[in-house]
Amino acid sequence: MNQDQLEHKLIPYVLTTARNLPFLDLEVDIGRPLEVLRVEDDQNGEFCSILNRSNQEAFGGPDSMGMPLWVMLDCAILPSAVIGFMLPRADTPPSILEKLDIDDDYEGFVPISEYCACPTVEADCVSGFSLHSHLMGQGIATRTKALALAIYKARFQVGVTQFYNPAIRVHVRFGAMEMTIHRPSVHTYPEDSFVYRLELPSREVLINMARGDDVFGQSNIPEGVRWEFDPNNEMMQGRLSRHLQEGGRAWLIPPGWRASDDGCELHMVLDA
Ligand SMILES: CC(C)(COP(=O)(O)OP(=O)(O)OC[C@H]1O[C@@H](n2cnc3c(N)ncnc32)[C@H](O)[C@@H]1OP(=O)(O)O)[C@@H](O)C(=O)NCCC(=O)NCCS
Repeated sequence: MNQDQLEHKLIPYVLTTARNLPFLDLEVDIGRPLEVLRVEDDQNGEFCSILNRSNQEAFGGPDSMGMPLWVMLDCAILPSAVIGFMLPRADTPPSILEKLDIDDDYEGFVPISEYCACPTVEADCVSGFSLHSHLMGQGIATRTKALALAIYKARFQVGVTQFYNPAIRVHVRFGAMEMTIHRPSVHTYPEDSFVYRLELPSREVLINMARGDDVFGQSNIPEGVRWEFDPNNEMMQGRLSRHLQEGGRAWLIPPGWRASDDGCELHMVLDA
């Protein structure tokens, strides 16, 4: 099945608890019906366990940043929703079935992407803590994140990512990413990580992004000095850290991240 044929088979899902349904924007129209999966329904148990395996596979397993099953329930499904795209088993590429170790007799849907964010104490702000996609390079992660943020009705998002992660190319499509904490000490990979904050595009733009019609939301590039930041360069890391400690501000701007010969480069702006 080619990419176009697969595209028509993608089904958006919202995995949550029944009590959350009135608080989510399920009117979001991306040209195909949203499938609501209630965690209370035992028939969704196998889907949840495949989704968790999928997350574990994408994030390096339980010893790295794979999400424990209880975190998926306590921090994603109960306070919010896990949102993504899934495929009927018969239309799922065999390589994904194998990667996710799907049982031969499983006839249900197979999750191929996922985003989850939970509410924060700040109104309209969510904390995003997982994004993955198994159909890479086809815009699925961007569409997944946009769909979820629209359904959450979020206006701001905070999150943590790693300097080396190409997912920065996805996050930066939602606006200039303001770096708020450089190398947070409280993280599995503190030296590689940073905390960022996004002011999100409008609902309309998020929906267009979720449809795949818009690749980027509108984004104002903050004024300041442009900087090609090499995370392997400790002098640059030191300068960035001092800039933030002294009250300066720093943003990642599109395209955000690119692979280089010996690592990667981040596209940044520092205020004066
Ligand atoms: C990172 C990830 C979410 C991207 O998923 P995706 O569906 O391929 O993403 P999209 O197609 O929406 O966009 C991908 C963008 O990132 C780029 N990209 C994705 N993976 C890349 C890689 N390994 N190397 C270089 N660029 C990459 C794509 O080229 C594209 O950018 P472009 O269109 O401007 O060229 C996916 O690879 C993944 O699940 N990774 C493992 C989990 C993870 O690290 N999640 C991020 C947590 S912050």
